[in-house]
Amino acid sequence: MNEVLKTISKRRSIRKFEENQISDQELQAILDAGLQAPSGHNDQSWFFSVLQDKKLIKELSDGSKAEMQKIPVPWIADLGKSENLNIYYKAPTVIIVAAKKGAVSPLPDVCAAIQNILLAATSLGIGSCWIGFAKFYFTTPERNIKIGIPEDYEVHYAVSLGYIPAKQKSNPPARKYEKYYHIIK
Ligand SMILES: Cc1cc2nc3c(=O)[nH]c(=O)nc-3n(C[C@H](O)[C@H](O)[C@H](O)COP(=O)(O)O)c2cc1C
Repeated sequence: MNEVLKTISKRRSIRKFEENQISDQELQAILDAGLQAPSGHNDQSWFFSVLQDKKLIKELSDGSKAEMQKIPVPWIADLGKSENLNIYYKAPTVIIVAAKKGAVSPLPDVCAAIQNILLAATSLGIGSCWIGFAKFYFTTPERNIKIGIPEDYEVHYAVSLGYIPAKQKSNPPARKYEKYYHIIK
C-alpha cells in the first residue's frame, strides 16, 4: 500500500489529546492541505478560524452545549446537559470551518477541505476529530465576529487537533466492507 492509502486507512477520530500544542509548522501544513481541496466552480468557499486559546475554546464548547439543550432531539439535548462533555475534547487547537454564503456548493467544499485536514493531520501523527456540534453555538452575527468569521460566511463544522496520548494510538473502529458497495462488470 502506498503512503496515501496507508494514511486513509489509519485515520480515525481521536477524542483525547495531549495538552501540549502542535507546532506552527504542523498547523501550517494542515491548513495548506485544507486549501488544496477541490471546490464546486473552484469557489474555494472555505474560511478557517484557528483557535488555540483554551478559555475561548471552552467558552465555545459551553455555548454549543447551551444551544444543544434547546434542540428537540433527545440525544442532542442530553449531550448538551452532560457536565463532563467538552465538545472539542479539550484539544489544544480547534479549527472552526465556515463557508461563503451563496457559493455554488459551500457544504461539499468545506467537507472536502475537512477531509484533507484530517488526512494531513493523520500523516503527521496528529490526532483529529470532525466536530458537528460546533455549529450550534453560532446563532448570532456577534458570535461569528467574535472569532473573526467574515460577515458573509456561515460556520458549518470544526476540527479538533492535538497530539495523541500514547495509549490511544490503536483503536480503529472497523468498516463493514461487504455492506457498502458492490461492483458490476
Ligand atoms: C459531519 C460529521 C460530523 C461529526 N461530528 C462529530 C462530533 O460532533 N463529535 C464527535 O465526537 N465526532 C463527530 N464526528 C466523527 C464521527 O463520529 C466518526 O467519524 C465516526 O464515528 C467514525 O469513526 P472514525 O472517524 O474513527 O472512523 C463527525 C463526523 C462527521 C462526518
